[in-house]
Amino acid sequence: MSPLARWYAQKGRHDLAWRASRDRWAVLVSEVMLAQTQVTRVAVGWPAFLVEFPTPGSLAAAGPGAALRAWERLGYPRRARRLWEAAVIIEREGWPDDYAALPGVGRYTAGALAAQADERADAVGVDVNIRRVLQRVTGRRLGAAAAEAVAVEVAAPLVGRDRLLALMDLGASVCTPRAPQCADCPLTARCATHGPLDGEAPKRQARYAGSHRQRRGAVLARLRTEPSVPVAELDADALASLLADGLAAVDRRGRVSLPRR
Ligand code: ADE
Repeated sequence: MSPLARWYAQKGRHDLAWRASRDRWAVLVSEVMLAQTQVTRVAVGWPAFLVEFPTPGSLAAAGPGAALRAWERLGYPRRARRLWEAAVIIEREGWPDDYAALPGVGRYTAGALAAQADERADAVGVDVNIRRVLQRVTGRRLGAAAAEAVAVEVAAPLVGRDRLLALMDLGASVCTPRAPQCADCPLTARCATHGPLDGEAPKRQARYAGSHRQRRGAVLARLRTEPSVPVAELDADALASLLADGLAAVDRRGRVSLPRR
């Protein structure tokens, strides 16, 4: 067993609920949520969403408003609309060969889905956390394709699902953005940097309080609980951007609601 494989067997986050699933839809929903929401919040939101929408067909039929309502407070609600758009396509045409053809599914998510749900040995996914690990190990900035090639090499002999999750968990608990614990790292013997790469951007989240995102969130929260609200009662800027994103709709009487389509 390689040091990374042993570390992953002992220290990996094997108890995360979505890791027990091999269902494409359930795994897709988990990855979409986890892309921008903390694990502890997804642990609550993921099972609740799937109780309501256990299949793509159930979400496709329910509409984008229902998706936004079920998304609740996971944030970044454009994801909920795109997930509904993906569900409509899956329901109509079946799953595409390349998952990246679906709305809201990028290169990482497509690879993560193939690795986890289909257990494809050749599937590779590199998200921002895995990329940080690989850039530190190699001491080089890596584009998407180069990072995937490095992932294959660094994680060998792990493949597919285990490769993805071992690198991800290492990034989450050892090779962290600010305080990497190199003494506990299974890759330390071959690591070029033992810490942040020069110029590695420690990305901070913008403040939520008072932000445009918060104002949009407040409008959406109201639309989730009331069937419709007069335009005049809502924050005009926040509403305009929700309308532009297809996250709200106005009828002829000037009443705003969650979108039906
Ligand atoms: N398990 C599978 N995918 C994950 C992700 N994106 N974040 C955390 N745990 C995961």
